Amino acid sequence: MPISRKFTTCATGIWPLLGILLLGGCAGRQSALAPGGEDAAQLYLIFLVMLGGAVVLWLGLNGLFLYFTQVNRGHFARRHANRIIIGAGVLLPTVVVGALLAWGLSIMPSQRAPGDGLVIRVTAEEWWWRVEYWPPGAQAPIVSANEIRFPAGSRTELQLTARTYIHSLWIPSLGGKTDMIPGRRNVMTLQPDLEGFYRGQCAEFCGASHALMAFETVVMAPDAFATWLEEQAAPASAPQGAVESRGQAIFRDEGCGACHAIRGTAFAGSVGPDLTHLASRMSLAAGIMEVEREDLMDWIAHTGDIKPEVAMPAYDWLEADELSALAAYLESLE
Ligand code: CUA
Repeated sequence: MPISRKFTTCATGIWPLLGILLLGGCAGRQSALAPGGEDAAQLYLIFLVMLGGAVVLWLGLNGLFLYFTQVNRGHFARRHANRIIIGAGVLLPTVVVGALLAWGLSIMPSQRAPGDGLVIRVTAEEWWWRVEYWPPGAQAPIVSANEIRFPAGSRTELQLTARTYIHSLWIPSLGGKTDMIPGRRNVMTLQPDLEGFYRGQCAEFCGASHALMAFETVVMAPDAFATWLEEQAAPASAPQGAVESRGQAIFRDEGCGACHAIRGTAFAGSVGPDLTHLASRMSLAAGIMEVEREDLMDWIAHTGDIKPEVAMPAYDWLEADELSALAAYLESLE
């Protein structure tokens, strides 16, 4: 290939680079480039430094390439060439990568530091998240699912494990990812600072529904969080209308309570998500649907079609009015 064509090919490498720079516009609620807390901000800084370094290296390398192919095409003394190879090819990368490693390791202790009191235990199930809040001194957890809420401005300890397969918890706007391994409890602490809504997802391929394993994250003002947690600890309210009562009877007759708990009722299953305050959550089926009538009916009747290999059977024998009543009951669980 003639040198000029080689250079053209090399120069086209600028487009992916521009693409990466444009990604800087990727704000949003699931973006490591839009940090909402201390840990994510540290990672973002590392990213910026590495990106800047990569740009400098890219420019330097292409500058040298240009220089030696277009400007100075003469021969090198062997000693001179060896110096360049050892200096730029061995010493420089060793120093740069070593410094990055030291810096990266230096921020790890804070991300594993003990929390300020609140502990949230998250268990990755197939394919959803069991979430248990342990406020300081609690004897029993406040159980929820598929949504993690944090008080802003304090460091919260996450204790992470999994039931059957290895998963990984990742809230890009709040911090790095940590594997969730059966039989092991990994600890990650996060300090979210910006109140708001963020999206998290499973970051390790775990099976057929890996891509359908997401969750909502809410960072709240500390007093609003305390009020919310108190509400979550309360039992479910009894069904108010006739439709909701019929829905509760269907829930009982179809045996839903064998897998799902609704505190304040006789339903105490622990295989599936706790539904006590289902309607207060921002999503259904782990971040993929909404807690509203149509989606609830759709989900109950077509679980396996919507989320392959999910444990919950599809209740496709229920009539539309039965599904609607069931959904009405679930919608009343605020
Ligand atoms: Cu759970 Cu991927």
